[in-house]
Amino acid sequence: MKKVLIVLAISAAMLSACGGGGKSGGADSSAAAKPDSAAAQRSVDTTNAGGKLIAKNDCLTCHKIDTKVIGPSYADVAAKYPSTEANIDTLADKVIKGGSGHWGSVAMAGHPTVSEADAKAMVTYILSLKK
Ligand code: HEC
Repeated sequence: MKKVLIVLAISAAMLSACGGGGKSGGADSSAAAKPDSAAAQRSVDTTNAGGKLIAKNDCLTCHKIDTKVIGPSYADVAAKYPSTEANIDTLADKVIKGGSGHWGSVAMAGHPTVSEADAKAMVTYILSLKK
């Protein structure tokens, strides 16, 4: 019985290791392995209220739109969460309070000085960045 649990735990770990958007392995793994070229890199739209706040805060130190830095790329975040009110609430809360576990073991520090309205504006913008 114990062995079965260990095997399950290992396969779960392997599954989450290749997770993070897209099908695991197979056809799209070559595309995922290729680094995004500079030309494909979008920059934050500062004419958007949320984009402006992202540029003003420290977000871009750890996040880019199309490539993973310390945090997940915003395109990956947008692909993972549909832009619903519930997701915007949850993610805005996470931006303010910080946390880890959804993209690996690295934690995002909280942003306690960011207001809920600002956090929601930023998350709304992020969730619009799907490729
Ligand atoms: C010090 C680095 C760092 C900074 C600065 C940072 N983040 Fe993050 N962010 C992370 C990491 C690491 C994760 C992945 C956390 C996880 O695995 O749950 C993350 C995850 C996220 C997520 C997805 C959360 C989830 O539960 O899936 C959103 C949205 C996000 N960040 C937005 C922001 C915004 C907006 C800012 C600026 C106010 C910001 N981040 C600043 C490191 C950072």
